[in-house]
Amino acid sequence: MSDGTHQLKQAVAQAAMDHIESWLTPDAVIGVGTGSTADLFIDCLCQKRHLFQAAVASSERTANRLREGGVTVVELNDIERMPVYVDGADEINGSLEMIKGGGGALTREKIVASVAERFVCIVDASKRVDCLGQFPLPIEVLPMAVGAIKRFAVSIGGQPAIRDGVVTDNGNPIIDVSGLSINDPVGLETALNQLPGVVTNGIFAIRKADIALVASAEGVLTLT
Ligand code: 5RP
Repeated sequence: MSDGTHQLKQAVAQAAMDHIESWLTPDAVIGVGTGSTADLFIDCLCQKRHLFQAAVASSERTANRLREGGVTVVELNDIERMPVYVDGADEINGSLEMIKGGGGALTREKIVASVAERFVCIVDASKRVDCLGQFPLPIEVLPMAVGAIKRFAVSIGGQPAIRDGVVTDNGNPIIDVSGLSINDPVGLETALNQLPGVVTNGIFAIRKADIALVASAEGVLTLT
């Protein structure tokens, strides 16, 4: 990652912290995403750990970083409400639909995001696209379904590739599908969800972001 990109990620992480601070209460449990941008947000969140109760992590990596920063990590099953989930993305379009899963945590990210009252997406401006699909679409699958899902990906015009050496926190492989132009994100997310053996696909359109904070050299833009 270049120094410039790191600075943008740092700026958007701090902007997210400022944005959500008024939603922190002594009993609040915050949802936290995974990735290099989320890591920088975690660092900001740890500084404010006295303002909220605990966090739910979307990966083992995130759980470890939160604990190292002194934040209590709880299980999603042990909470009843979550005021906000903050996470990065690999691509985001003008409708705040996203591709996620470049860091391999898409399944837990989608589960945690689904229960949050607000989804705040934090990205640098390079992640903004008109049409999703330039970033290869990650799909977490059960191992015995790999061949079938790869054939489906080819049938819709994609080029599937197993992510080398990667096993998710759930013990599954990921197929990355390149070459797609995703003109109907909700439709493709729904279709992929129907395929036996698909655990999660990386289109976040059915539950998209409510707010996107986008960092560029000009500052941090808020999109809703
Ligand atoms: C992890 C994700 C990340 O949010 C996505 O890959 C963006 O990562 P980064 O902030 O490192 O650019 O979906 O599964």
